[in-house]
Amino acid sequence: MMKNIVKNKQQEDRTNKPLLSALHGEAIARTPFWLMRQAGRYLPEYKELRAKAGSFLDLAYNPDFAIEVTMQPLRRYGMDAAILFSDILVVPHALGQNLEFVTGEGPKLNPIRDLDSLSKLKFNDEVLEPVYEAVAGIRQQMKAENFHETALIGFAGAPWTVATYMVEGGSSRDFSNTKKWAYSDPDGFAKLIDLITNTTIHYLGRQIEAGAEVLQIFDSWAGALDEDQFKRWVIEPTVKIVRELNEKYPDIPIIGFPKGAGVLYQNYANETGVAALGLDSGVPMDFAKTLQKALPVQGNLDPVCLLTGGDALKQSAEKIINALSDGPFIFNLGHGIIKETPPEHVEQLAEIIRDYGQQL
Ligand code: CP3
Repeated sequence: MMKNIVKNKQQEDRTNKPLLSALHGEAIARTPFWLMRQAGRYLPEYKELRAKAGSFLDLAYNPDFAIEVTMQPLRRYGMDAAILFSDILVVPHALGQNLEFVTGEGPKLNPIRDLDSLSKLKFNDEVLEPVYEAVAGIRQQMKAENFHETALIGFAGAPWTVATYMVEGGSSRDFSNTKKWAYSDPDGFAKLIDLITNTTIHYLGRQIEAGAEVLQIFDSWAGALDEDQFKRWVIEPTVKIVRELNEKYPDIPIIGFPKGAGVLYQNYANETGVAALGLDSGVPMDFAKTLQKALPVQGNLDPVCLLTGGDALKQSAEKIINALSDGPFIFNLGHGIIKETPPEHVEQLAEIIRDYGQQL
């Protein structure tokens, strides 16, 4: 009896929330959309709060600020999803690695390059309590502001991508320290990947408990690996994360985003167990349609096209919707919004997507 009531509630949410319907395999007349980095520096109201907070981490770890920043793009554009405002690097931070965001330079961490420094890491969930608090607060705020059809996405970085930041000590062009460790001492590097994997399973589980309805795993640097390394460091850890979360939370869909994976997207789709695939802008429409036969797809407008706006934006966005909207599809960018993007272009894109649905 109880189970039935719970089930009906989930089905109700699924029909009310276009994002959840698409993730459960339905083609939706009005394409659901959200945009990676939809909260951020292209919005003046973000910049204002960011200045008030001081540092990026002071913004992200303050639940009131994180809730507010998450809500900002919804109020302007009515996306079909909110995404928790946080960062993939809070996981290394909670493992005890120093983390700083240096303005104009990106993240800085003290590099972990051997088993000795790895052995000093220890997970402290206290660090992440403000994130869980923000998740619960966002759900409440979405209700309070009548975003009843909007779903909340929680997220984490994939172990490979997070490992690159932990080993390089920040952003990197070629990930050579990380790859060298993986090639020369795979069993040692596997200890780092396992630590991130297990921490991520716990972290995402707690986001679900706090109210996340969908998860996205960002594997931003999946495209840097060859076939064998991709299997070991991208596919295998993702399999473990998805299997364990699906066992415990079978109704929470997980979107995998192995950016730059190229033809290896097919392996990722076949082997990881994710509910849907996030596509980068390099994925051609024919290949996207092939992938969509197996799984819902999300993507993949070039963020520079959104920055450009005008006819180019209209043509590119319509081409993607045309190609993919007869199957389960979520419109998104192929990577995050660029900070110089004029907010009016995001409005233009939201209108293109809505108008397209009305023409049908
Ligand atoms: O709106 C959203 O998408 C949610 C928030 C979010 C952020 N980072 C906020 C952020 C999400 C989902 C991320 C993910 C993230 N963070 C990824 C994966 C996606 C991707 O972009 O590939 C990665 C690789 C990171 C690591 C990271 N965080 C870098 C390299 C940087 C510095 C570069 C930059 O854009 O400044 C960040 C900082 C960061 N994370 C900002 C935001 C809004 C900008 C910081 C600021 O406001 O000063």
